[in-house]
Amino acid sequence: MEDNERLMSAEAEAGDEEETIRPRTLDEYVGQDQLKENLRVYIKAALQRNESLDHVLLYGPPGLGKTTLSYILANEMHTNIRVTTGPSISKPGDLASILTVLEPGDVLFIDEIHRLPKVVEEVLYPAMEDFELDIMVGGENGSASHSVRLDLPPFTLVGATTRAGDLSAPLRDRFGIISKLEYYNTEQLAQIITRSARVLNVEIEPEAVLEIARRSRGTPRIANRLLRRIRDFAQVLNNGVISKKVADDALERLHVDSLGLDEVDIRYLKGIIERFHGGPVGLEALANSISEETTTLEDVYEPYLIQIGFVNRTSRGREVTEKAYEHLKIRRQDTLF
Ligand SMILES: Nc1ncnc2c1ncn2[C@@H]1O[C@H](COP(=O)(O)OP(=O)(O)OP(=O)(O)O)[C@@H](O)[C@H]1O
Ligand SMILES: [Mg+2]
Repeated sequence: MEDNERLMSAEAEAGDEEETIRPRTLDEYVGQDQLKENLRVYIKAALQRNESLDHVLLYGPPGLGKTTLSYILANEMHTNIRVTTGPSISKPGDLASILTVLEPGDVLFIDEIHRLPKVVEEVLYPAMEDFELDIMVGGENGSASHSVRLDLPPFTLVGATTRAGDLSAPLRDRFGIISKLEYYNTEQLAQIITRSARVLNVEIEPEAVLEIARRSRGTPRIANRLLRRIRDFAQVLNNGVISKKVADDALERLHVDSLGLDEVDIRYLKGIIERFHGGPVGLEALANSISEETTTLEDVYEPYLIQIGFVNRTSRGREVTEKAYEHLKIRRQDTLF
């Protein structure tokens, strides 16, 4: 079942080949309708005024399209994108060397922005607000060090994070546009799969599309990954056509749960049921008992389990619902005593 854990992980994996199937325009980007419509307005307004787009913060679980959307923003604004990550900018000088090579209007994409060190954040504030950069010079050979102010070209910072709560308030406040990405419904995932199949040049039956969509955990990254794996089965067993039967067989062989739950989801649910009588249980105690990190459970696993109504988060802790018992085919009475 190790296979299944990798297959259904929402985190990016080597071999995902995401570049080839990434949509390039807002029109190709499926779902997130409200966010998309707002962005269309902001983009149009900024282009009309010949200004850069306001800074954008995107947050939400992995694989829902934060990076993809950042590239699209740059594309729609007809500018370049520079890509970096919070942890890779360890000191103010690193940030300065990124900011000083930006062209007017460029998008600077900082992934995992919640992991930006505090000293770097402080340099970022005036850069975001006034497009100014304060850097320290001198201080060698006995000369006094002093700060020099540099003008930066107007740019758009796009920050992405799975942990919006970990962002400091002053940093969060400097984003004009803050948006949470939502899980995708079956119909939207079906659209994504249909599009990806076209890009990958593979023939797929509509019922097969729906079946894959239902088992993708609301996550485009997982949908695309399942499509690629099932394509292999179709190629070898069915002249390359993904029929409903090929999809069903492949999904069974791949041990993909009917709702797309992975090993960790199942361990999470069974952990609460078997060790804590269905809850309520505190996150910390649960995480310890199934050897997972609290942050991973909170950011990656719980949002989906809550979304599909398998888990309730109450003031006394996490509780598994009747629906989850049914899905796991466990009778509640069996675990009561
Ligand atoms: N709205 C969408 N429409 C079509 N395809 C999408 C959409 N969102 C994501 N995808 C596909 O899913 C894949 C994963 O998306 P992306 O890398 O943007 O996720 P992410 O939110 O940045 O994840 P992470 O938190 O791991 O960085 C991409 O290859 C892209 O093709
Ligand atoms: Mg990303």
